[in-house]
Amino acid sequence: MEAGRFVRLILTPMRVLEKIGEMREASRACRRNGGRVGLVPTMGALHEGHLSLVRAARAKCDTVAVSIFVNPTQFGPREDFSQYPRTFDRDCELLRGENVDLVFAPAVQEIYPAQPGSAGQQRAAVPAYSTWIEVAALTDRLDGKSRPGHFRGVATVVAKLFHIVEPDVAFFGQKDAAQLLIIRRMVRDLNFPIEVVGCPIVREPDGLAMSSRNAYLSSEERKLALLLNRSLREVEQAFRAGEHRIDALIRIGSDAFSLQPAVRLDYFEIVNPETLEPPAQAERSLVAVAAYVGTTRLIDNLLLEK
Ligand code: PAJ
Repeated sequence: MEAGRFVRLILTPMRVLEKIGEMREASRACRRNGGRVGLVPTMGALHEGHLSLVRAARAKCDTVAVSIFVNPTQFGPREDFSQYPRTFDRDCELLRGENVDLVFAPAVQEIYPAQPGSAGQQRAAVPAYSTWIEVAALTDRLDGKSRPGHFRGVATVVAKLFHIVEPDVAFFGQKDAAQLLIIRRMVRDLNFPIEVVGCPIVREPDGLAMSSRNAYLSSEERKLALLLNRSLREVEQAFRAGEHRIDALIRIGSDAFSLQPAVRLDYFEIVNPETLEPPAQAERSLVAVAAYVGTTRLIDNLLLEK
C-alpha cells in the first residue's frame, strides 16, 4: 500500500457531516494544507456507477468528499421523491471501503431552510426558497422536456454544493449526459473555479446501465429493462453498417420498443453532444433514450463516433 494512503487510513477515519458550516470547514482545512478537494455529488443508494466516480476522485484528489442528498427540488410532484431508495448505512460502508474522507449528508432543512412559521405548510417540495439556476436552452432538452423543472433543481442544488464544499474538482457520470453538460455550462457561465470530470457509464454484465432506480424493478421488469441498451446498440450497429441518416437511425431505435408494449418509450433522440440540438450529421452524436419499465423511468445513452 502506498504510504500516504496508509497514513490516511490510520489517522483519518471517514467523517460524516450534516451541517454546512462543518462541511465547509473540513474542506477548507484540506485546502489550507495545499490539498486538492474532489466532490462526488450523489443521491445515495450507491452502486458501482457511483463508486467509479469516487475512485476517479480518489485517484486525482487529496481529500474526497461525497455528498448524499435526495434533492427534493429536482423531483416533479408525481415523481418518486418519497419512495427514492435510501440506504444510508450501507452507503457509508461502501464509501469507507473506498477511503472516502468526508461524507456530506445534510437534512432537507439544512439545504432549503423553511421560513419561520411556515412549517405547517411544508410539502414534499421546498417551502421558502427563491433563488434558482436555469441553464437556458439545455434545461428543456432530453429529460428536461419530459421532467419540467428537473434540471433547474439539479443545477441549483449542485451550485449550492459547490459553494458549500468548494471543491477543486467535481465528478459526474456520462449516464446522465444532459446533466453533465448542464453542469459544465453552469461552471463556465458562472465562473466556478472547478474542474468538471465526466466518467463513463458503468453497466451490469448484461448491458443494463447501473442506476439506483434499478432497485424498483421486478425480475420480469429487470429483463425488459435491457431493451434500452439493446435499442442503442441496434442504432450503433446500423450506423457502423453505413446508415447515417438521423431519421432512419431514430426509427431503428424507437422500433425496438414498438414490439414490447410493457415498456413505454418516453423519448428516443439523436442530438449534438454539446448543444443537445438536432445534429448536422450522425457522426459524433449522442443517442439518448428514456423509457418507463412498468412505473420505473430509466435512461441510457451512447456516443456515435466514426
Ligand atoms: P445520482 O443519480 O445519485 O447520481 C450521482 C452521480 O452518479 C451522477 O453524476 C450520475 O451521472 C452518476 N452515475 C449514476 N449511475 C451511473 C452509472 N451507471 N455509471 C456512471 N455514473 C453513474 O445524478 C444525481 O444523483 C443528482 O442529479 C445529483 C447530481 C446528485 C444532484 O442532486
